[in-house]
Amino acid sequence: MRKLLVILFLLLPVCFLLAFQKENLRDIYSRPATGWPKPWVDEGLSWTELGPLPPGPLSGKEDSLKDIIHLGKILFFDPRLSASGKISCASCHQPQLNWTDGKAKAVGHEGAMTKRNSPSIANTWFYRRLFWDGRSRDLQDQAFAPIISESEMASDMPDVMIRLRRNQNYRELFKKAYGNDQIDPDRMTGAIALFEKTVISRKSRFDQFLEGDRKALNNAELRGLHLFRTKARCMNCHHGPLLTDNQFHRTGFSGDDVGYYKLTHLDADSGKFKTPSLRDVMQTGPWMHDGMQPDMPAILEAFNRADQPGIRNNLIKPLGLTKKEKADLLAFLRAISAPAVDFFPPVLPE
Ligand code: HEC
Ligand code: HEC
Repeated sequence: MRKLLVILFLLLPVCFLLAFQKENLRDIYSRPATGWPKPWVDEGLSWTELGPLPPGPLSGKEDSLKDIIHLGKILFFDPRLSASGKISCASCHQPQLNWTDGKAKAVGHEGAMTKRNSPSIANTWFYRRLFWDGRSRDLQDQAFAPIISESEMASDMPDVMIRLRRNQNYRELFKKAYGNDQIDPDRMTGAIALFEKTVISRKSRFDQFLEGDRKALNNAELRGLHLFRTKARCMNCHHGPLLTDNQFHRTGFSGDDVGYYKLTHLDADSGKFKTPSLRDVMQTGPWMHDGMQPDMPAILEAFNRADQPGIRNNLIKPLGLTKKEKADLLAFLRAISAPAVDFFPPVLPE
């Protein structure tokens, strides 16, 4: 009996040690985020922890705004806003392609090639400035641009107004939305912007993990999450629940586009672009402002080597990631990418 007790007593610390060793990434990241390892973010940078998809800005208010949102949705899908009558906002921001067009660069009026890649409109309510170069301050202001842009929808605003005002069904839709049938650019873009604020991502597997489903991520994805926050340094710019710092950086993918310089006219900002949200990123390629990156492993290798010409960015340094670590990082990007939402395009008024 005594012998047994001694053995038990000796076994106790061993069990304790074993239990302690089992503390793996899954356990660590199953804790509330306040208990996660500190990310490798440079001194002095402000950052927010990764987190579950936040509710959209209109969540809870959608019922009282439903007629304006409905009008905005119709306008978003209506090619009559374009000069040719063939191109709608949804031509370049297609719901079934996670609100992008799958092309490197957007193709607009009469096949005109634009300079940039069509970004997703999901979660854009979150950006402090819109467009890759930040030249627009909010969604309503942004909505004017493509309608009158020669390479996109190539319309004249007065023409668009005439077309909408002539349409009895549109007059009724505006009346239902705003109380009277006055149709003006402000109301039109306001409705489009309101609709866009309802467009948010589907929950990803990473969200499910954060909400307590410990099995939602596999081991490679968990290692990828840890790398993303630490050795791979992605958190220096892609942080918070939307995985963007809402800032502009030069990452070496600039080509000859001056980017943010167009807004600030400061030499230091030349070649900077908005840090895009990485939600659903595996669904929105080809990537970067110019759509010139069709290959995600090549993007990760570029960040890993940090030797592209023109990087000039203290936040981007060689990372020394192994092949396995790059595969893990890629696995994590998959885990934050949700498939397109089931979306039913509206019936357009006659
Ligand atoms: C011909 C294709 C095309 C059409 C049509 C089009 N867009 Fe875009 N959209 C783009 C491209 C390309 C960009 C990025 C341009 C840039 O950053 O310079 C963009 C950017 C945006 C952004 C900013 C996203 C961000 O992350 O900053 C929003 C919002 C948007 N478009 C909404 C709309 C709306 C609303 C319409 C219709 C009124 C529309 N788009 C029509 C191609 C298009
Ligand atoms: C210094 C800030 C910074 C860091 C660090 C950073 N990124 Fe980015 N990332 C950006 C910016 C800015 C862009 C847009 C660049 C462009 O379009 O030319 C971008 C673009 C991307 C894109 C393309 C997204 C799209 O929609 O086209 C991916 C993917 C990406 N980053 C992943 C990562 C990963 C993974 C890491 C870590 C290895 C990382 N980034 C580190 C700032 C950063």
